[in-house]
Amino acid sequence: MNIILFGPPGAGKGTQAKKLVEFYNIPQISTGDILRANLREGTKLGLAAREYMDKGELVPDEVLIGIIKNRLKEDDCENGFMLDGYPRTVPQADALAGILEEIEKPIDIVLNFEVPDEALVSRIGGRLMCKCGASYHKTFNPPKEEGICDACGAEVYQRADDTEEAVKNRLDVYKNQTQPLIDYYEKMDLLKTLDGTKDIEVVFEDIKAILAEFA
Ligand code: AP5
Ligand code: MG
Ligand code: ZN
Repeated sequence: MNIILFGPPGAGKGTQAKKLVEFYNIPQISTGDILRANLREGTKLGLAAREYMDKGELVPDEVLIGIIKNRLKEDDCENGFMLDGYPRTVPQADALAGILEEIEKPIDIVLNFEVPDEALVSRIGGRLMCKCGASYHKTFNPPKEEGICDACGAEVYQRADDTEEAVKNRLDVYKNQTQPLIDYYEKMDLLKTLDGTKDIEVVFEDIKAILAEFA
């Protein structure tokens, strides 16, 4: 099962990906998490990405294409994978098509999370993140123990790009550069749009129902 989780910032891609990883036993490939891990480790890639990420701009395509190309060739992608936060531009989608053709792993479905802007802003405004990639919300989905990640026990924090200014920019960037991919995948008959405004558990059930025909 080769899946793309698609949608605007704050739509719930990361939240659902963590649940799907457990359920289907396929890896989540979150380009945002990969970039943040590089930032934490102070790699050259992380340092180069920081200025884009903090402002809510996209990191250049060639950087992301390189990351994805290497990641998809790893052994754990053998039985499927979930892309979270990639592709975000038409050149990234075109490059992905080329890579997947080469490794003979076509995309089965693109799950498009639909959530209105007001909800995205309040979700991102209250988000708490863990370095393991787990995502919480102060009100909608708090960790069981305040300030501590349920999954790994580390301290949760607010993401550097979850400021009001950066969020506004991320929503604009999404509309201008990423949203055109909805048409792109619709034309390929791969797009499945879902209502991302429902409760986390309900969205999860909806996704499982959609994916049942592939499992
Ligand atoms: P990235 O990390 O991918 O951020 P994003 O796309 O902006 O998406 P988010 O992580 O903000 O949203 P999400 O859909 O995962 O929502 P979540 O589940 O956390 O990218 C960050 C940056 O990296 C980019 O700006 C860019 O600079 C760079 N980058 C990454 N990939 C790139 C690429 N391919 N090309 C170029 N640059 C790239 O949920 C959000 C909140 O809502 C949480 O608090 C959660 O608890 C809550 N929530 C989730 N679901 C629900 C629900 N159903 N009801 C109520 N609350 C909910
Ligand atoms: Mg995310
Ligand atoms: Zn954690």
